[in-house]
Amino acid sequence: QPSSPQMEESSVLRRADCRAKGGSPGFKVAILGAAGGIGQPLAMLMKMNPLVSVLHLYDVVNSPGVTADLSHMDTGAVVRGFLGQPQLEGALTGMDLVIIPAGVPRKPGMTRDDLFNINAGIVKTLCEGVAKCCPNAIVNLISNPVNSTVPIAAEVFRKAGTYDPKRLLGVTTLDVVRANTFVAEVLGLDPREVNVPVVGGHAGVTILPLLSQVKPPCSFTPEETDYLTNRIQNGGTEVVEAKAGTGSATLSMAYAAVKFADACLRGLRGDAGIVECAFVASQVTELPFFATKVRLGRSGAEEVFQLGPLNEYERAGLEKAKKELAESIQKGIVFINK
Ligand code: NAD
Ligand code: LMR
Repeated sequence: QPSSPQMEESSVLRRADCRAKGGSPGFKVAILGAAGGIGQPLAMLMKMNPLVSVLHLYDVVNSPGVTADLSHMDTGAVVRGFLGQPQLEGALTGMDLVIIPAGVPRKPGMTRDDLFNINAGIVKTLCEGVAKCCPNAIVNLISNPVNSTVPIAAEVFRKAGTYDPKRLLGVTTLDVVRANTFVAEVLGLDPREVNVPVVGGHAGVTILPLLSQVKPPCSFTPEETDYLTNRIQNGGTEVVEAKAGTGSATLSMAYAAVKFADACLRGLRGDAGIVECAFVASQVTELPFFATKVRLGRSGAEEVFQLGPLNEYERAGLEKAKKELAESIQKGIVFINK
């Protein structure tokens, strides 16, 4: 038998009290698109995150089943399910962090931009809900095309009068995760020891790995640089083709999303020195949005870092990236203001 709302509420309060005594805060997190390919493993990993006290799972289908299933896990977070537009308000009210993987994925032969027509409207509706119900929440936007959906979200928040650029983050962590993996393979290192900054955006040539800034310091031949840059830029397509029409990256994406969400929560908790790459409002280039390293803190992306020194190969890549990014950003802004 599912527990009653009263039992559940008193359990949440008891656990909050317990945590207060232990000095460890718990955050309220919502996942929008929680029954999807990314949403389900993401929800499971967030249910296992000790920083999460309440986990709201929203989708337009199947969220009750996913919620019932996850609610039996003996971890701290209380899980609640929300189904369909009439329950969006309940899903969002009081949330500290909203993670959005709602929307359709690519099939072979498609670009991420081909998803715009469907996903732009989904992101707009969900962000209108965020503006209304939890305007101070941090938003982690995963739905593609990220290069356009982040500008869409920003315009929705701006129109609602709730826009704080620090709190809107496009999730590009999967590009960093892939870059770390592929670079580690070439160097013969453990990927956990490797850190590759990936800047620009999240599609094709806009994904710009800065191989000259890899930690630990190392160097690559021109052939290795070409191989790594192409593989990192086309990592998503590699998975889309391997899945042969059944979707795009879901498991590695859920892993990446949790890595990023956990960094956001640690920032919210006040931990120092939390730095991740993300696609954010930016003055690093002439474009209004750009992915770089950001420092995460109590109010979100508190500091946006400069690109650092680039080599000639990266400077050429940057020019290509900016050209495509400018169009994708503009497309998002026009969608809301048309
Ligand atoms: P999926 O189709 O498996 O799941 C999407 C879920 O969104 C479904 O459960 C669906 O019911 C739900 N949904 C649709 N409309 C909704 C709405 N209005 N409100 C709430 N939920 C809604 O797709 P997936 O594989 O989970 O991918 C989701 C999105 O994430 C795609 O756009 C994909 O391109 C993107 N993605 C981004 C990255 C990244 O690095 N940022 C990586 C992988 C995938
Ligand atoms: C990815 O990078 O895996 C995602 O953006 C999904 C896709 O369409 O490639």
